Amino acid sequence: MTEGFHSVTGKEIPPFDQPLHVGRPNIGDRDKFLEMAGAMFDRRWLSNNGPLLQELEKRIAAYCGVKHCIAVCNGTIALEIAIRALKLEGEVIVPSYTFVATAHALHWQGITPVFADIDPVTHNLDPAAVRRMITPRTTGIIGVHLWGRSAPVEALAEIAQEKGLQLMYDAAHAFGCSHRGRMIGGFGRAEVFSFHATKFYNTFEGGAVVTNDDGLAETIRLMRNFGFTGLDNVIHPGTNGKMVEICAAMGLTNLDCIDSVIEANRINHALYCERLNPMPGLSVLPFDPRERNNFQYVVLEVSDQCPAGRDAILEALHAKNVLARKYFWPGCHRMQPYRDLFPHAGLVLPNTVQVANRVIVLPTGTTLPAGAVERIAAIISACMGK
Ligand SMILES: Cc1ncc(COP(=O)(O)O)c(C=O)c1O
Repeated sequence: MTEGFHSVTGKEIPPFDQPLHVGRPNIGDRDKFLEMAGAMFDRRWLSNNGPLLQELEKRIAAYCGVKHCIAVCNGTIALEIAIRALKLEGEVIVPSYTFVATAHALHWQGITPVFADIDPVTHNLDPAAVRRMITPRTTGIIGVHLWGRSAPVEALAEIAQEKGLQLMYDAAHAFGCSHRGRMIGGFGRAEVFSFHATKFYNTFEGGAVVTNDDGLAETIRLMRNFGFTGLDNVIHPGTNGKMVEICAAMGLTNLDCIDSVIEANRINHALYCERLNPMPGLSVLPFDPRERNNFQYVVLEVSDQCPAGRDAILEALHAKNVLARKYFWPGCHRMQPYRDLFPHAGLVLPNTVQVANRVIVLPTGTTLPAGAVERIAAIISACMGK
């Protein structure tokens, strides 16, 4: 399979020595991290609202310009807690074109995720499709800021207001991003970040709920810690969603270098655009230069005009150790349990199906070797018989 792929110069393109992964972790200053870890061991305060966690929450809230940040053990628990704090029930409208955790966080709590179609250009929820999926059982909408590009927040807010629905966001991709100059984090009643190792900013595993609502923040804090207030007083149902101190140390370390990570991603993204956009049928999803973005997702769309199919390009890349990925393929509605629960969902999701069949996500980040983007572009070009 590796034979026969030649660059424009006619020379065989060698495979990369090391696999190039999508979402390879960016890691900040090790010495700073180890120093914080040492102080943590000295204090013997490993979890339960420690000083590192408190500092991280303050810094994240300030970074996003929101009143409250409640950091938790991962983005999925953050979603589950926010969903419960908002008292969602019955049906909640979500995109199918998202990571399955958006839907699972509802289903796990006995709530039905109802999949609405996306706009094929933005890949985000289409407000008209959201309207079509509202029923008397609908209690809320969870928008996703896919790839870090904001969901249609004004249109969704209008629908939520008009229909009396709760509105929150899965902002797992959108830490460090803005919408009309305002940082993501302050939209809807609450927003949820993921700080998983594969995200551009990580706390090993981790996540947060951010909100400007004092009452909601208080409820979420209780829910994160079994409903405890004080030592022996449980005043609310809850779970264990706490972020541990070592993760907060990683978060503080990585916050210090967040701008350099974004800059590395921005440069990679610009180079991918330059190399891939001139090829027939290929386009790299752009980011609005007026907004802040983390440039973590290099999303290549392979249209019908491309001489090579999406899967053929992926196969060619994998053969050269470039572990590019299909993303959110085949869509949540084709994954279990939703595939059995809603076997005909695809009929109302034509754009989701089309986009899921076209997308390849390419490696980026601070560890991408020099010259990698050019080589990846050459592999793709060769695959197209150029
Ligand atoms: C859109 C989206 N939602 C939710 C999650 C879940 O976050 P976590 O892996 O931190 O639980 C992720 C990422 O993993 C995601 O990409």
